[in-house]
Amino acid sequence: MKPKDVAYVRMFDTTLRDGEQTPGVSLTPEEKLEIAQQLDRLGVDVIEAGTPITSKGEKKAVREIAKAGLKAEICGLARTMKEDIDAAVECEVDSVHTFISTSEVQMEHALGLTPEQVLSRTVESVEYIKNHGLVCEFSPMDATRTDMKFLKQICSAAEEAGADRINIPDTVGVMTPAAMRKLIEDVKTTVKVPISVHCHNDFGMAVANSLAGVEGGASQIHVAVNGLGERAGNAALEEVVMALHLIHGLKTGINTKLIYGTSHLVSRLTGITIQPNKAIVGENAFVHESGIHTRGVAVVPRTFEPIRPELVGRRRRLVAGKHAGTRGIKTELEEVGVHPTKEQLRDIVERVKYLGDKGKLVTDADLLAITSAVTGRVVKEEKIVDLKDLAVVTGIKVIPTASVKLVLDGKEYVAAETGLGPVDAAVKAVQKLTANLVNVRLKEYRLEALTGGSDAIAEVVIKVEDNDGNVMSARAAREDIVMASVEAMINGINKILLRRRKLQ
Ligand code: KIV
Ligand code: ZN
Repeated sequence: MKPKDVAYVRMFDTTLRDGEQTPGVSLTPEEKLEIAQQLDRLGVDVIEAGTPITSKGEKKAVREIAKAGLKAEICGLARTMKEDIDAAVECEVDSVHTFISTSEVQMEHALGLTPEQVLSRTVESVEYIKNHGLVCEFSPMDATRTDMKFLKQICSAAEEAGADRINIPDTVGVMTPAAMRKLIEDVKTTVKVPISVHCHNDFGMAVANSLAGVEGGASQIHVAVNGLGERAGNAALEEVVMALHLIHGLKTGINTKLIYGTSHLVSRLTGITIQPNKAIVGENAFVHESGIHTRGVAVVPRTFEPIRPELVGRRRRLVAGKHAGTRGIKTELEEVGVHPTKEQLRDIVERVKYLGDKGKLVTDADLLAITSAVTGRVVKEEKIVDLKDLAVVTGIKVIPTASVKLVLDGKEYVAAETGLGPVDAAVKAVQKLTANLVNVRLKEYRLEALTGGSDAIAEVVIKVEDNDGNVMSARAAREDIVMASVEAMINGINKILLRRRKLQ
């Protein structure tokens, strides 16, 4: 469906406001500023920096973002109340987004106001914001459950009072794309200022509904990085943008190459991890396992890749597993300079599938071990980093401390770190020592006892990732959990370093 009269869709980013309303998320002013600067580099049109009336820290954060000299319009959220608007004005924002409930259920039970009172508070607040010379965006909250006649009446009143934009929130995420499109078309018969949409994801349709809003004539979408927001969240910026660009053929101001880095930063600072199968930014979004797929993408990536990974700052990865095919495994081995014969390759693939059938994750190290066993030649992994020594101190009244000696490119280095436990301390010491070569993040850590008893062999499987999105899995097994963890970490770092050197 072609959108009406819209070629450029504005991105109103609410990661720092609705996104921060994600249960369990609370950002310091410094963290909010760091995210705002990244959003600005990313190219969003509006940054809703927060709700200044909320707290002293929130007000400080919004003020600092407003003064940071960013290109984006900086917006503060305010209820239709003088003190909220004053707090936003004091932050020297460019715009104020003011909202009030308009559905019967919310007016009666959340506000205890009549429709007439809601109407007059809307007009007073919009006029008050405009009298301060600021841009005003008005939201009739719960618009999608609001009586249509009243919705049009309040939107017209806000427009007449000077609102520059009207935002239509699907506050509890109950719309379908067809209904959203129709609603925006209807509102547009009354409202002349630009229309925006703000969709929640309660039924998993926030992105689809936002796109439908654009089909109905909206020219701005409220988005949040990684789909953060109240309850099930808001429309995910990364999904909305890529769909607008690649499916609808529309423009936004977003530099898509920065999407993955931005998603990472937001995930790290909010502590909200991203599900592996999340579109665009999830760990598996550009990973191919099945034989048909790996064969296809190895020849023509377009066969099974609707989005080029580089376009969003990512890389394609082929992995071994029970669905893997000969071609994918061959490509994987060739990447590390191993060229088995046809028969050997068949044998390797069979063994990989056998492990997969047993429910085992086949790491890069497992693939090399299998290859060594099949070819009879030790496929030696080159090592840039090697463990020389490890010592840990821990106890009830002792802060867990680890000291690690590594050989890096032939030279010995030592570092000590403290941590929440001995594994944490040792892993941090390794990261500290290797930071000059590469910054890696421990994405996943799994520990299993392979045998019973207190002398059980501990197997550690990890996933590490560098700043360029290279992800490697590695494994180590030892009687000592700390040793196994450090060895797995070092194996992972070696793999990342080797891949980086190969790509240079
Ligand atoms: O979901 C919502 O209705 C909101 C409003 C503040 C616009 O977040
Ligand atoms: Zn919301």
